[in-house]
Amino acid sequence: MATDRLKREMRLHRDHSHLCESLARSLEQRVKEAVEARGRCAMALAGGQTPLPLFDVLAKSFSERIPWDCVHLFWGDERWVPADHPESNYGVAYTRLVKHLPIPEAQVHPIVVHPTDIEAAAETYDRLIQKTLGTPPRFDVVLLGMGSDGHTASIFAESEALTEQERCVLPVESPRPPLERITLTLKVINLARHVYFMVVGNDKSEALKCAFGQKNTIELCPARFVEPAAGNVIWWVDADAAEGL
Ligand code: 6PG
Repeated sequence: MATDRLKREMRLHRDHSHLCESLARSLEQRVKEAVEARGRCAMALAGGQTPLPLFDVLAKSFSERIPWDCVHLFWGDERWVPADHPESNYGVAYTRLVKHLPIPEAQVHPIVVHPTDIEAAAETYDRLIQKTLGTPPRFDVVLLGMGSDGHTASIFAESEALTEQERCVLPVESPRPPLERITLTLKVINLARHVYFMVVGNDKSEALKCAFGQKNTIELCPARFVEPAAGNVIWWVDADAAEGL
């Protein structure tokens, strides 16, 4: 476990598969702690490709080990596409994870893609988070990925989701398709008790150095600003992503 001047806790694994096994066991502990303390665990899932093997491990080996009947599942962001679209974070997670879990449907909270009004969808999700998590809205676990440009969730450089101080959810423009997205804001991510980044692959190594403050080649690295005031961040990385750290 390595740390550095930015006090980033890193869990280094030789490959994606070992990382997912280890992260799943850690998630099991975080869920049980949350349930013990508060009777439920509020978890936000990451989008993209990196968490998919973790979803497979959770579906295959942790469907009984984790008390999913006490878990409320949310998403860190969503692309503005229907749930059956291959780019839907919810749609992919449902197929690879959710449909294999004994989790009550009422506790699975996708970002509902309103057919015509992305602003309304963001406001609806914001209200749902506030209603479910209370004030302040604190997730027990937020699972995040990171792009090679240092974005996380759908918080890209110069995004108002970086500086928003009131709302937990915003509609945003993405620099890459799907262009319209909805994302948790840095504000609510930084209220979390535990943030787990999953960063895998050599294409992420530059952004990881920037996130750890060891390089400034990426003008603005949104992932670097994930620093929960009363929570902790663990960077789950493989050897390729951590090369040169
Ligand atoms: C998304 C994610 C995004 C993702 C990174 C990394 O909706 O795409 O929320 O933040 O985690 O872009 O994506 P990969 O895991 O596919 O590399």
